[in-house]
Amino acid sequence: MAGFSPLTTRHSPPAPRNMGLKIHQLALGAYDNLICVLADDATKEAVIIDPAWDVPALLQIIEDNGYDLIGIWLTHAHGDHVEGVEAVIEEYPTVEIWASPNTLDSFNPNYPTSDIEDEMELGDLTFEVFHTPGHSPGGVCFKHGDHMIVGDTLFVDGCGRCDLPQSDVNAMYDSIHGVLMKLPDSTIIYPGHNYGPTTTDTIGNQKKTNRFMLAASREAFIKERMG
Ligand SMILES: [Fe+2]
Repeated sequence: MAGFSPLTTRHSPPAPRNMGLKIHQLALGAYDNLICVLADDATKEAVIIDPAWDVPALLQIIEDNGYDLIGIWLTHAHGDHVEGVEAVIEEYPTVEIWASPNTLDSFNPNYPTSDIEDEMELGDLTFEVFHTPGHSPGGVCFKHGDHMIVGDTLFVDGCGRCDLPQSDVNAMYDSIHGVLMKLPDSTIIYPGHNYGPTTTDTIGNQKKTNRFMLAASREAFIKERMG
C-alpha cells in the first residue's frame, strides 16, 4: 500500500541534551596566568582563551577530551596572553582568532583576526561579551550563565594594572563599578592571573573583599589603583 509504513517498536532517539559549559582552568607561566579552555560538553566544540606559556598543556586538554577546537578568544592582547597564539595555529591552522578591534593595534599576528562580537557562540552556548577597557583599551569579558571570563579586568582581591602605556584608570573604574559590580552576586569570575587566595570567586564575595570594589568613589578607586 502506498504510503504505508510498517509499525516499528524503535523509539526515537533522545533529544540531544545540552550538558552545558565545561571550563578547564590551568595555572601556567612565569606570571601565574590562569588560562581557560571552554567547551560545550554537548557538541564538544572548544575555544582557548588567551593561549600562552604552555601550549602543549592546553592542546592536551583538547585531545584528552576529544574536543573540536574552533577558536581562540582574546580578553586582550598583552604579550603574556597571546604569546601562544602562533603555536596553536601551527597545530590547528583553521582555528579562528577573535579579539576586540581596539586591541589589534597591539597584536599583529600573521593570521587573520576577526572582530569580537557582542555575542559569541560556542556550540549551542551563547556568551555575552562585555567591553571592559581600563587595563587595556580592548579588554573584554565573556559571560555564559553565571560564569564569566574576566581577563585582567578583575583578579580575585585585585584588578589589572592601570599604569601601562594604553591603560586608563577612569575607564577601569567604569568597567569594574559600572559593569562588573552590576552583575548578579552569583556571577563567578575566572581571572587572567592567579594573584588571589583562590582561582575563582563570586562577584558577591568580591564586593566584600576586593579593595578596588570597596573603594567608595571614583577618586578613592584611582588613589587605590595608582597610589
Ligand atoms: Fe594584561
